[in-house]
Amino acid sequence: MSDRSQLISTGESFAFDAERDAEFERLVVRYPIRESMIMPALWMAQEQAGWISAEAIEYIADRIGTFPAKVLELATFYTMYQLKPVGRYHICVCRTLSCWLRGKQDIVDYLADEIGIKPGEMTEDGKFSFEEVECLGHCGTAPVVQINGEFHEEMDLKKFKALLATLT
Ligand code: FES
Repeated sequence: MSDRSQLISTGESFAFDAERDAEFERLVVRYPIRESMIMPALWMAQEQAGWISAEAIEYIADRIGTFPAKVLELATFYTMYQLKPVGRYHICVCRTLSCWLRGKQDIVDYLADEIGIKPGEMTEDGKFSFEEVECLGHCGTAPVVQINGEFHEEMDLKKFKALLATLT
């Protein structure tokens, strides 16, 4: 799995745009404990910028009134939060037991050998990025791949190649 321990700075401050600012204010009053808003706020930051920078972590902590370390611990625990820029198509391949037994390695090898990316990497043109993740919760239809959050189940190399060919 890619290293999730390093935060990347953009060198520029982060703030929600007007739409997300309003959404934050609409949601935050629903939570008696403001820290419960960390995960939705992380999601909104990622939606806005495509990934979550060190500045976004600071901003969210400030908006919620907590320590950046609290925001960081959630951001680093869940692999759906991207802590560095990702490609237009972000490919997550499940590496847990069912998917491993049912051939996820063929897909991982194809990505390395033919597309040129290993876990945690992005193609030079920014089209594809790739990471291996833990169980995606669809073990009965392994192996499972997620691309930009969309599930693709019972994958094999032939289906995976055909799927990539549809992504322009
Ligand atoms: S083991 Fe891959 S989805 Fe559960």
